[in-house]
Amino acid sequence: VYRSSLTRKLQVKAGETTYPVLLSDFKRQLQTHLGDSRIVAVVSNPKVFALHGAAFIDNCLAGKRYAIEPVLMGDGERFKSQKTINNLHHCFFEIGLNRTDTVITLGGGVVGDTAGFAAATFKRGVNLVQVPTTLLAMVDSSVGGKVGINHAYGKNLIGAFYQPRAVLTDPGFLGTLGRREMIEGVAEILKAGFLSGRRFLRAAGDMPLQYSAAKRDYFTGIISEAIRFKAGIVARDPYDAGLRQILNFGHTFGHAIEKVEKYRRYHHGEAVLAGMAAALHLSRLSGLLSNDEANECLHFLSRFVSHLKPLGKDPDDYLVPMEVDKKRMGEDIVCVMLNGIGRPVVGPVRSRKRLKESIQFMIEFVKRKGVV
Ligand SMILES: NC(=O)c1ccc[n+]([C@@H]2O[C@H](COP(=O)([O-])OP(=O)(O)OC[C@H]3O[C@@H](n4cnc5c(N)ncnc54)[C@H](O)[C@@H]3O)[C@@H](O)[C@H]2O)c1
Repeated sequence: VYRSSLTRKLQVKAGETTYPVLLSDFKRQLQTHLGDSRIVAVVSNPKVFALHGAAFIDNCLAGKRYAIEPVLMGDGERFKSQKTINNLHHCFFEIGLNRTDTVITLGGGVVGDTAGFAAATFKRGVNLVQVPTTLLAMVDSSVGGKVGINHAYGKNLIGAFYQPRAVLTDPGFLGTLGRREMIEGVAEILKAGFLSGRRFLRAAGDMPLQYSAAKRDYFTGIISEAIRFKAGIVARDPYDAGLRQILNFGHTFGHAIEKVEKYRRYHHGEAVLAGMAAALHLSRLSGLLSNDEANECLHFLSRFVSHLKPLGKDPDDYLVPMEVDKKRMGEDIVCVMLNGIGRPVVGPVRSRKRLKESIQFMIEFVKRKGVV
């Protein structure tokens, strides 16, 4: 069991702003961040609101002097759109939301990114509190202040940097999360482990795929460690000028999988999980990771990779989207690799043979259900 010091809150510094991630004592701590709000809009989707809306409002908001206004948006990536922003703004006008009022996002990354962007742009910005309910949103999308929506030209292309007043991170929400969504969050936690070192990686490798109240301390510990890791990178690179690139470990291959599998067979986090196997093999082929270290890392992926569907295509098919990826530099494809556990390097890779071999390795690793 992994136990970090069970902190009640963490501070995240991004640019000029610092905001807290609340990890316990939610109602009391949250109240101080609602300021003089007369209206608190709780934006969620029908699924999350049905599961957690009433309890969240009862436990964290009820009994105070403001009006609580639930606002629902659609569930799914396709609702991360301009149309949803228009609808949310319309609802905010209808309920009479003002700049001193607060928008709370209650949901996964889709609700957080979309409603966060609606809050950032409504009357030039109203108070925002993020309440992530998926593991991915807890450790990744709610940390760093990026909010936004998709465009026909690509994902996340319209958006802003907008820091929340606070983030309320309660692992209790994970009790209703499906296994696939849990694995997506685990992928990001393992990624943070590979990038930060063995101690964290070992703890991440023990992640259960089902939350229960008995495991609350473990979850709080590992989630806060992952937030601390991402917050450390964000503090050094608040506007994504360079260092944040290392967070793309596994993503160049992962994006290729998502594209080739047409965003259906593989969810984003599942693709990143498989993509990290390719990135580890590429690090080995490039002489950065020893054979032992690469195998040690792959062992941490095994248990989770065993849940993935086989990758259906040939290595060449996955190489095609990498050739047109925005992370290309001339003839080179930019990949994040490991120069030892906890030592990421961003490197241009020219050899298509090496990339193809890494993809081939990934396909076989998934097919063997993660047996190293
Ligand atoms: N802003 C950032 O820095 C950043 C970083 C990473 C990812 N993202 C974005 O995050 C999004 C993905 O987020 P996600 O993986 O949370 O997906 P999601 O928000 O679509 O949630 C996944 C599914 O889980 C459901 N759900 C949410 N909480 C639940 C709970 N507690 N119990 C049961 N079901 C629950 C949702 O309704 C949804 O159907 C993508 O749009 C991605 O671009 C943003």
